Amino acid sequence: MDFVSALKDVAIKDLQELGERVEQSISEDKFIYDACAPLLSGGKRLRPVLFLLCSRSKGICPNEKTMPLATALELIHTASLVHDDILDNAKKRRGVETINSRYGAQISVLVGDYLFAKAFQLVAENDYGNEVAAVLSKLVKNLCTGEIMQDRSLFTVPTMSEYYERINLKTAIFLSSCCRLGGIVAGLNQKEIDGLAFYGGSLGLAFQIVDDLLDFFGDEKITGKILGGDLKSGVVTLPVIRALQVSEKSKILREIITRKKLTDSDISAAIEIVKNTDAMEYCKMRADGHIDSARINLPFLIKTSVALALEQIADFVVDRSW
Ligand code: IPE
Ligand code: IPE
Ligand code: MG
Ligand code: MG
Repeated sequence: MDFVSALKDVAIKDLQELGERVEQSISEDKFIYDACAPLLSGGKRLRPVLFLLCSRSKGICPNEKTMPLATALELIHTASLVHDDILDNAKKRRGVETINSRYGAQISVLVGDYLFAKAFQLVAENDYGNEVAAVLSKLVKNLCTGEIMQDRSLFTVPTMSEYYERINLKTAIFLSSCCRLGGIVAGLNQKEIDGLAFYGGSLGLAFQIVDDLLDFFGDEKITGKILGGDLKSGVVTLPVIRALQVSEKSKILREIITRKKLTDSDISAAIEIVKNTDAMEYCKMRADGHIDSARINLPFLIKTSVALALEQIADFVVDRSW
């Protein structure tokens, strides 16, 4: 199941409008536009789509009510990626050169800040209220805490619970918040909103595990990112944690990944060791487990067509190649 067919008839019409609003949101300043337009035209739009779907839990929710927040969510996500690409020293994002690679870290910090500010401007101008503002601020704080936690433990092997804490903070809470915001805008009761947020959080854990897997096993042309980027920047993820548990070459692997400067041949050697274990199956099994939890509450909570689309997104998240 590809992402677009998963969304057919439910959110696909809105992706066009979302694209136009995102483009519009960066058009006030020429430098910002030129720097960001290629980046903002790509990506899966998973976060605004989750929000839009959940906002329809009780039926149609007018676009004037949802679109500014959907746009803000994509801007916040993209801002976090612009900053993340500085931390990871990444060269490619969404198939194009990163802002960091093109303009350097100084400009990238400011471009990311600009996108964050633009997102909060859209929220402020559309009277979403304190509850929405609080969810947004918390998700950004958590994302930062997760990225800081990761950056402070580069080239070291996290325990399983440290790994989970990190991916929860940097990714799962964001996806969970998108669903929560949809529920808030739709006027659901607290139990229903928490149900949606639980779905998003479990989906988010699976999503980041698969992202970490794709760094080893993905196809650069499809992911739009450079393979082995996590190893190179010292981010030790679940495939490595697993390989260290089961590989007969775990000593060599540990020695390579904790070297502070990895050469291309170090990276190939580490990838080879990880590939020769059950790391891929293991990570998929864990991701599947989170997806199973994500599904649990859905059918009882919301409109059938929305529940179906959220289920299809869950399928997509584990099987995706981008
Ligand atoms: C990338 O997110 C960052 C992670 C949390 C793994 P996406 O994979 O949703 O990135 P885009 O928006 O499709 O580029
Ligand atoms: C997610 O982690 C980044 C953010 C939460 C901003 P990654 O560092 O794995 O994301 P990619 O792989 O660069 O997209
Ligand atoms: Mg990164
Ligand atoms: Mg990644």
